[in-house]
Amino acid sequence: MTADSTRFDGRTALVTGGGSGIGREASLLFAERGARVVVADLVAEGGEETVNAIRDGGGEAIFVRTDVTKPDEVAAMVEAAVASFGGVDCAINSAGTSTPARTRTHEFSEEEWRRILDVNLTGVWLCMKEEIARMLKDERGGTIVNLSSIYGLVAAAGTAAYTASKHAVAGLTKTAALDYAKQGIRVNALSPGYTRTPLVERVISHKPEIEDWFVERTPLGRMGIPREIAEAGVWLCSDAAAYLNGVILPVDGGVVAQ
Ligand SMILES: NC(=O)c1ccc[n+]([C@@H]2O[C@H](COP(=O)([O-])OP(=O)(O)OC[C@H]3O[C@@H](n4cnc5c(N)ncnc54)[C@H](O)[C@@H]3O)[C@@H](O)[C@H]2O)c1
Repeated sequence: MTADSTRFDGRTALVTGGGSGIGREASLLFAERGARVVVADLVAEGGEETVNAIRDGGGEAIFVRTDVTKPDEVAAMVEAAVASFGGVDCAINSAGTSTPARTRTHEFSEEEWRRILDVNLTGVWLCMKEEIARMLKDERGGTIVNLSSIYGLVAAAGTAAYTASKHAVAGLTKTAALDYAKQGIRVNALSPGYTRTPLVERVISHKPEIEDWFVERTPLGRMGIPREIAEAGVWLCSDAAAYLNGVILPVDGGVVAQ
């Protein structure tokens, strides 16, 4: 344990979806707390911006363009972490997608259904598969945080594919937490509420009145900001959260308490 149990000096953190929103803030926070950061994203522009911001602040980071739905790209992502920084100690799997419009269950196209499940569920599993294999090989434990959602705990009409994917991520997280506890690998998930990121801005631009609905649904009376979600995720990865394993943590201003 380091002297300050919230720091990551000498450790490497990998963040998927690190080019935007919650993943970007998590990448910046890891760097502020001493980690070397591997920023992975489908979109090079965003990922490189995150890396430049870390370097401007005196931190160490690399960008690896990765589509989390492609097994060979995910394997290359972890290999890049090993080649540049010697391994992976912490991972936040934040890459995710949604539909801009609410769609009833029977009205989803098969293509859209598969696209969302592929990124949000299979993508998380593929990343865990490579991250965990590396952590086991290095025999020094590790921590993983997956991005579920309040829709991994409750549902909203018109969100079948997203809600199914996020409930599945919760189940996957709990299972992996049991599979690797004896090897010192902790696996937890975050369940963010309505958080102002590009993903949610796209939903709002499609249907502006939904913003009021988000705020009304939230007991704290406002949407979250990416930093508030990232704080919880980075903390879950730290030694300060050493006894948390298999937790699906709402960070939602009280939405699921209702
Ligand atoms: N914003 C919210 O209100 C909210 C609430 C609950 C859960 N979440 C979850 O948090 C995570 C981050 O969301 P965000 O709001 O920061 O969104 P965002 O759109 O700002 O960031 C998501 C990032 O993932 C990347 N990405 C998408 N598909 C990818 C792929 N196939 N491979 C690699 N990268 C890919 C995008 O390029 C983007 O940079 C998602 O899993 C999302 O479902 C967000």
